[in-house]
Amino acid sequence: MNSAKIIFLSLIAVLFPFMNFAQELPVYQDISKPVEERVEDALSRMTLREKVGLVHADRSYGAAGVPRLGIPENNLTDGPSGMRPEMVWQTWIHAGLASDSCTAYPALICLAATWNQEMGMLFGKSYSEEAAYRKKNMILGPGVNIFRTPMNGRNFEYMGEDPYLTSQMAVSYIKGVQSNNVAACVKHFAVNNQEHLRTTINAVVDERTLNEIYFPAFKAAVQEGNVWAVMGAYNKFDGQYCCHNSFLLQDVLKGQWGFDGVVVSDFGGTHDTEEAIENGLDLEMGTDLGSIEAYNRYKMADPYIDLLEKGEADEAVLDDKVRRILRMMFRTSMSGHQPWGALASEKHMADSRKIAEEGIVLMKNEGDVLPIDLSGVRRILVVGDNATRLMSRSGGSSEVKSKYEIVPLEGIRNRAGDRAEVIWQPGYSVNASESAADSLRKEALDAACTADFIIYIGGLNKELYQDCEGVDRQSFSLPYGQDELISGLAATGKKMAAVMVSGNSYAMPWIDEIPALVQAWYGGSEAGNAIASVLFGDVTPSGKLPFTFHGKLEDCAAHSIGEYPGDGETVEYKEGIFVGYRWTDKENIKPQFAFGHGLSYTDFSYGKIRLSAKTMTEDEAITVSIPVTNTGKRAGAEVVQLYVNDVKSSLPRPVKELKGFKKVYLAPGETAEVIFTVGKDALSFYDPSVHGWVAEAGDFKVMIGSASDDIRAEAGFRLADRR
Ligand code: GLC
Repeated sequence: MNSAKIIFLSLIAVLFPFMNFAQELPVYQDISKPVEERVEDALSRMTLREKVGLVHADRSYGAAGVPRLGIPENNLTDGPSGMRPEMVWQTWIHAGLASDSCTAYPALICLAATWNQEMGMLFGKSYSEEAAYRKKNMILGPGVNIFRTPMNGRNFEYMGEDPYLTSQMAVSYIKGVQSNNVAACVKHFAVNNQEHLRTTINAVVDERTLNEIYFPAFKAAVQEGNVWAVMGAYNKFDGQYCCHNSFLLQDVLKGQWGFDGVVVSDFGGTHDTEEAIENGLDLEMGTDLGSIEAYNRYKMADPYIDLLEKGEADEAVLDDKVRRILRMMFRTSMSGHQPWGALASEKHMADSRKIAEEGIVLMKNEGDVLPIDLSGVRRILVVGDNATRLMSRSGGSSEVKSKYEIVPLEGIRNRAGDRAEVIWQPGYSVNASESAADSLRKEALDAACTADFIIYIGGLNKELYQDCEGVDRQSFSLPYGQDELISGLAATGKKMAAVMVSGNSYAMPWIDEIPALVQAWYGGSEAGNAIASVLFGDVTPSGKLPFTFHGKLEDCAAHSIGEYPGDGETVEYKEGIFVGYRWTDKENIKPQFAFGHGLSYTDFSYGKIRLSAKTMTEDEAITVSIPVTNTGKRAGAEVVQLYVNDVKSSLPRPVKELKGFKKVYLAPGETAEVIFTVGKDALSFYDPSVHGWVAEAGDFKVMIGSASDDIRAEAGFRLADRR
């Protein structure tokens, strides 16, 4: 072989591995290309029917992709606190798989009670690793509807009564979820604040109340959380269904707020093809399942194709919907950056437990009954159906197929079983007849006589008319005769602590009879261990209430002047902006436990408040700082809350509004300088006469406290007109 040939063959041998035989990738498949370029390229290759196939469901939790182009289907999952079980393809029947058991995270009301954005980020990141593992590219959460009445069956899925707290916690959750290239879907937009007649009720809410109370969490989700999907609510707003409400979706969400993601209908919330097309719905999900024909009958399926093919619908409008869905896909399943994820791992269970522990609220602790000192305790009596009841697997669409759930009794036995005998009495039952209830109560009271410490575990549950989707509660009282049982146990004179598992507030006729009360929410897979950690002092409680616990239902604005549940057609939010503590402050009503309330096993003192200036203009900001010291003997965390009062305003304003909070962890004797920045936004209110936010010059006060009814320091300053 001559030398030239040898050289040529050597060159080939050296260069071969570097010769790119791969076909040039189409732009839409090239993850190095900008998302918008990929969107346009994919769109340009799709037929009209392929485009319509993207905008409606073709199974219970999914919608078609474009198999011809290698664009995958969209796989959505409920709920906000962990994955719902896989369903049989086109039904609402659990598939009974062995591979979809996962981590149950705490209910979002528990996350809100942590008042800690780091917990929100942890929650979202941990949960989306589970979703990624199961190849889901959208999580149908967080729910951010404001707690307007304690009768709402879904309050456990949301984050309380205050728009600022809800906004901050929702944004942190969304950022956590989307950090793994899984889309969060903030819901339900908007004013879905009751379950009673939820699919038809028309909510009437004035412009100022919308913007100050019910919009902020959605607006923050879009503008601060950069959320990639929003779910329309079932109800109507101002006479038009929210899932295709022109004002909400076009004017506000996509117009004013600049939302570039996907509007998903609540399932079965789409009622009109033309409205759905024209008013901003992008993806129609449904409940009418069972066959491909069923999906083809969806409002944005065959009816949409008919209109397009007759030239009665503008393909450019369809293209906008498809762009939004493709954009979400190129941010998620087709981003090339989704992690492999993990499912029900020890790490995820530990994450769930940490959030549950940080959300538990110590409401009352007279005589430091808690933490329980096991020395001298031979027998612990645990009483209550909620001590053994599984909670994460029910309650509606937020049900989670948890790999396991540690119930409170198990958690208590895990923690104290080697030091004391732990016995259990149900005390009450969900299905007991009156005579059976009497004997259950008697057995518990008899057992109390030989116990050294009583732990009562009660509250609500996920049964219908309790904390459950689709219906509201029918009573503000605890169910199943618990009030009488709690009083009976208290009357024994034994050391006692009551632990309430619920997502809502409730009447407490016994509150003065018991020394200690803990609000434990729905804690997920590790609920029982989290409760035990707090009860026995391994964890110092640091949760704060995300909503007001009213003493009686009439103290709640919606039940005083607000009109709940409406007349069957319409519900008018007559209380306006005065929701929760905004109402009790205005009316001088003393709540049972206030918004932001939560005790610790240690104590915190607040030093002198300092402002960086006594005057500011709306282009400036003031720094507010205050030293906080742990004066107790245990390490602990304090949520330092900042409220603002507008001394004089042209429209009525709340006495105070939450505009900042920081959770600080302090060792005994340690001091932290807690610093807030107060700018124009924190001083503004929404003025409907100018359809915008205004900060009026004049005097303001900042109030720093440990709760909305426990203000430790305040200082005045002036907002001057622009210099
Ligand atoms: C339900 C809920 C919504 C849920 C959806 C799918 O009715 O309102 O929150 O994500 O339908 O189950």
